Order: sequence, then C-alpha cells, then structure tokens
Amino acid sequence: MGEDAGGSENGILQASAPGLSLESRRSFLGVLLGLGSVFVGALLSIPLLRFALFPLLRRTTELKDSPVGALTEFSSLNEPVMRTIQIEQLDGWRKTISEKVVYVTKDSQGQLRVLTSICPHLGCTVPWNKEKREFICPCHGATFTPDGTRVSGPSLRGMDPLETSVQNGQLLVRFQYFRQLVSDREVIG
Ligand code: FES
Repeated sequence: MGEDAGGSENGILQASAPGLSLESRRSFLGVLLGLGSVFVGALLSIPLLRFALFPLLRRTTELKDSPVGALTEFSSLNEPVMRTIQIEQLDGWRKTISEKVVYVTKDSQGQLRVLTSICPHLGCTVPWNKEKREFICPCHGATFTPDGTRVSGPSLRGMDPLETSVQNGQLLVRFQYFRQLVSDREVIG
C-alpha cells in the first residue's frame, strides 16, 4: 500500500513534470524568438538610422573657397583694397552664410595676397589708412605695412594671409581664423 501510495505520488510528479517542462520550453522559445526579432530589427534599422542621423553626426564641413573678384580688377593695384566675401558653411542640415572683410594687396614680389582684416592682437577689424599708407588698428594702435607685415604696436605678428587660388579668371580665397596673441601663425578654424 505504502509502495502504491508512493508510486501514485511519483506518478503525479512524473505526469506534472513533463507538463511544466513543455511550458518552460515554449516560453523559452518565445523569448528566443522575441530576442531574434529584436536583433534582426536592430540590424535592419542601422542603415536607416545612419542615413537619418548622418548630417547631425558629421563634423562641420570645411569652408568653401569664396570668390573675391576677377583677377583683372587687381592687376593695377597700388594699395590694398577691401572686399567683403561670403562664406558658406554646412553644419548638419543647417547652411549658414556669413560675410567677412578681407584686403587684396600685393606682396614684396608683386604677387597678389589676400589678408584677413581681423587683427592678430585681439581681433578688432583693421582698416587701411590711405593717408599714412598703413593698416592701423583702432583698438590698441598696431600698425602694418600694405602687405600686412607688422610695423609696431602690441600685435606679435603681421596680419594673417589667406589661402588663395584662381579659377576661370576669378580670385578665390579660403577664409580661416587664426589664434590671437601669439607670434606664430596658427589656424584655429
Ligand atoms: S586688437 Fe588690434 S592692436 Fe589690439
């Protein structure tokens, strides 16, 4: 009797154990399937996400070259001339256009040179003084020759020349910012 009772107890246990195991297997498979779907979905969405976020994640593009004017305009230059250039910059989806003042002048060999008007001392805009034939900074009095060489004042270097190129007879310039208050020229943006 005791054995029978024990047997039926075991029988109950044996009957219920496979039932639980099947349920567990089903839920395990369900979880596995769910995880698989999430994984495949995530894999498929990577290209879409990259495409959508690319403009946001991309670094600011380099500045484009800006037209300064036709080369012929500067052929008989005998003093620096001021020009306002437009700079186009792309930050993600946002396109910004700003204006900068530059000077077209000639170096000691008579080659065209474009200078930024930003003073290398503390960043004031440096005007050309026709009477004195010098660039004279109104802020702290730094002076520069027509080709931008430092003459006097607190600036530790001459005015900063910009990279130029010529395309279809047009003078182009790449505007850049330089570190102030240092003697060695260093591009910062
Ligand atoms: S900002 Fe030009 S001399 Fe100081």
